[in-house]
Amino acid sequence: MKKIIALLLTISLTSFAQERVQEHEEASKTFLNWHFFENGRGMTISPDMVKFLWMINRENKNADQLYVTNFIEQRYGFISQNKKLVGVFDVPWKGMNVGVLGCTGCHSGKAAGQVIAGLGNKTIDAYQIGRDLKGIQGLWGVGSTNPDFKYIHGKAMNFANVISDKNISNLVRGVVSDSTIKTFFYKDHGLKYPKDMGRGQVKVPHLWGIKEKRPAGIFNDGALSGDGYGWIFGAELFASDSGEHLRAVLPKIQWLTDNVLGKLLPPKYPFVIKTEVVSRGETLFNNNCLKCHGEHQRDLQGFPLYTAPRVIDINVVKTDREKINIVTPEFVDLVKTGSLGDLLSFEEDNIQKGYFAPKLWGVWARFPYTHNGSVPTLYHMLLPQSERPEIFSMKNAGEAERYDEVNGGLTLYKANEMARAMKDAKKGDRDVYYVKREGLSNEGHYFESFKSFTHEDRVALVEYLKSLY
Ligand code: HEC
Ligand code: HEC
Repeated sequence: MKKIIALLLTISLTSFAQERVQEHEEASKTFLNWHFFENGRGMTISPDMVKFLWMINRENKNADQLYVTNFIEQRYGFISQNKKLVGVFDVPWKGMNVGVLGCTGCHSGKAAGQVIAGLGNKTIDAYQIGRDLKGIQGLWGVGSTNPDFKYIHGKAMNFANVISDKNISNLVRGVVSDSTIKTFFYKDHGLKYPKDMGRGQVKVPHLWGIKEKRPAGIFNDGALSGDGYGWIFGAELFASDSGEHLRAVLPKIQWLTDNVLGKLLPPKYPFVIKTEVVSRGETLFNNNCLKCHGEHQRDLQGFPLYTAPRVIDINVVKTDREKINIVTPEFVDLVKTGSLGDLLSFEEDNIQKGYFAPKLWGVWARFPYTHNGSVPTLYHMLLPQSERPEIFSMKNAGEAERYDEVNGGLTLYKANEMARAMKDAKKGDRDVYYVKREGLSNEGHYFESFKSFTHEDRVALVEYLKSLY
C-alpha cells in the first residue's frame, strides 16, 4: 500500500513538474511576442521605416538581408532568434506600418549563446539607436502632411532625441539610463528637463520572481512602489505622448506581470557544475551571504520558491551611488503632482537608501554583476575592488564564446589585447566597459567576512551560485 501511495505521489509530482515547465514555456513565448502599441501610442520609430525591418525579417532571407540583421544586432545590440530580431515588431496602423519596440527588446537577452525570455539584454545600446534614428528619421519625415504620420513621427523624434542626449544617455552598451524615464515627468509639467540630472545607468534586470518582489518595491533600489503596477511601464512612458497611454494599458500590465512574468523560471545552468564542492559553497553562503540575500528554498518538485528581497543600506554595500542619487526630491515631487500622481507612488523608506540584495535564482546568466554591471564574473564579486578588472568587453556579451565557465560570467581581455583595449576605453569606445566612467564604478560589495576566503572557498561559492536555478 505504502509503495502504491509513493508511486502515485511520484507520478503526480512529475506531472505537476511538467505542467510548471510548460507554463514557463508558454509564458516565455507570450512575453517574446508582446508589445504595448495601442491606438498610435507606444515605443515607435517613424511610420513605414519599419518596412525596411520587415523586409529584412522575412523568411527565406538572402545573404544581403541577413547582413542587415547582423548589422542591427552588432550596432544596436538587439538579439535575434531564428534569424528574427527579438522585441521589434511591425504593426499595421491606419494604412501605415509602424515599427514598435516591445518590452523584450530590453527584457530578453542571451547568455552563453541561449536566448532567455526575461533576462536583461546585455548588449543593447539605446544611445546608438537614438543617434542613428535621429539622423535617418529626420530625413524621412521631411515633407509629409498626413496628420497620423506626423503624430507618430513627432513622438519618434522625441524618443530619439531623449535617448541620444549625451548629458543623460548610457556610456557603454548593455546599460540603460533611468534618467530617460525622468524626462517624462518634466514634459508632463510642460518643463524642459535639466541637462545635469545624471544618468542612473543600470543593467536591465531579470524578471523571474518579479511577482513576489513587487510588494517590496521595484527597480534596483526599491524606491518605486510596485503596488499600482504603473512603474512597470516606466521605460515606455517617456516615449508616450501622455499618461493616458498608461491608464489604457494598465489592466494588461497587471495581467502580464502576474500571469506571464510570474510564471517564468530561471534558466538552467547549461554546463557541468562541480557538484562535489556545492555543499561546501552552500555552507559558506549560509554563513556569509544569507543575512543579506536570504534563503533560496525550493518546492516539492525542486522549483524555486520566490520571495521578496531586502534593501541594504548604501553605506554598507558601498556600490556606485549614481543610480540612487537620481531619485531626487524634485523628481518625487514632479511625479506626485503630475498627471499620473494617482497611479505612481514611492516606497518612501527606500528613497536614496541603498540597493536590493537581489535573489540569486538564475544568477549565472545575469552577468556582468551588480546594478550597473561593473563586475564581469561571479568570482570577481568575491574579490576586492583592486583585484577586479577596470575594463572588459561588452561585445557579443551573450554569445557562447564570451562565457567564462570557470569564473561564471564574461571572458576578459587577453594580456596582448590589453593596451589596445585600454586606449579604446579612454576614447569612449561603446563596446568597452570602463569602470572609470561616470556611474560605472566597480567599488563595493566586498565585506569584512570576504577577507578570509581562500581561492577554494570562492570556487565553492561560485559553483553553489551556478546551481541556483
Ligand atoms: C529601454 C529598455 C527597456 C524597455 C523597453 C522596458 N524596460 Fe523594463 N526595465 C528596464 C530597466 C533598465 C529596468 C531597471 C531599472 C532600475 O532598476 O533602476 C527595468 C525594470 C523593469 C521592471 C522591474 C524589475 C525589478 O526587478 O524591479 C519590470 C517589472 C519591467 N521593467 C517590466 C517591463 C515591461 C513589462 C516592459 C514593456 C512594457 C518593459 N519593462 C520595457 C528597461 C526596459
Ligand atoms: C551586507 C549585505 C550583503 C552580503 C553579506 C552579501 N551581499 Fe551580495 N549583494 C548585496 C547587495 C546590496 C547587492 C546589490 C548591489 C548593487 O546592485 O549595487 C548584492 C549583489 C550580489 C550579486 C550580484 C547579483 C546580480 O544580479 O548582479 C551577487 C552574485 C552576490 N551579491 C553574491 C553574494 C555572495 C556570494 C555573498 C556571500 C559570499 C554575498 N553576496 C554577500 C548585499 C550583500
